Amino acid sequence: MTRSIRPLVAGNWKMNGLKADLAIAAEVAKGYDAGLKASVDLAICPPATLLFTATSGLIGSRIATGGQDCSVNLSGAFTGEVSAEMLADAGATFCIVGHSERRTLHGESNATVQAKAMAARQALLVPIVCVGETQGEREAGKALAVVRKQLKGSVPEGLDAASLVVAYEPVWAIGTGLTPTAADVAEMHASIRADLARIMGKQAAAGVRLLYGGSVKPSNAADLMNVANVDGALVGGASLKAADFLAIAKACA
Ligand code: 13P
Repeated sequence: MTRSIRPLVAGNWKMNGLKADLAIAAEVAKGYDAGLKASVDLAICPPATLLFTATSGLIGSRIATGGQDCSVNLSGAFTGEVSAEMLADAGATFCIVGHSERRTLHGESNATVQAKAMAARQALLVPIVCVGETQGEREAGKALAVVRKQLKGSVPEGLDAASLVVAYEPVWAIGTGLTPTAADVAEMHASIRADLARIMGKQAAAGVRLLYGGSVKPSNAADLMNVANVDGALVGGASLKAADFLAIAKACA
């Protein structure tokens, strides 16, 4: 953790969640007690279809919501796409961009991710820019260089600390139950902070929330959150269980 930074725990529901599953968000809100509120921010990123209803249901809870992706385009003839402005209009605060599932399954390049982050900013959303290496890249000793290149290409210039969140999600740790060692996370997060300083200036970079994501569970959250420069978590599977998500938030608080 970074002492001066208020941590953020964000749940990425991915392509999961029907109306009935908003009960999970309601349960999280119920468990987000004064103690937690005093020390950790929470966000839930449901599928776009649930965003408006989720946000409406969370009014007064101080839990933010976010989209999982946005179009690079502002509006127009782009059938099936969702613009950042639409997400903001539905009540979102954040928008995940460049998740490895988008990069891999939809061929999103760094330039695309950067354009999405800029579109999100234009709609006054805070982009959560995801970066992370594959297993092969880590084994080849290229993890730091790969993430450096992703950051350089994906993070827009000129943002301040409050306008950006970066999530380090090693691709091989997502949904696998595997996690990097604390030492590897510490090395990567320190490197990300230094890389961000070159992109946005040292002062802004020092205040950016750097989340770790990839198989975060109640059982490993405290160890991961104890690592220097880890300012919260981006949680996939465990965010679909209110008790687990709250336990991770507690580990962060
Ligand atoms: P899991 O927590 O299910 O590994 O997913 C991580 C993730 O991709 C969050 O964006």
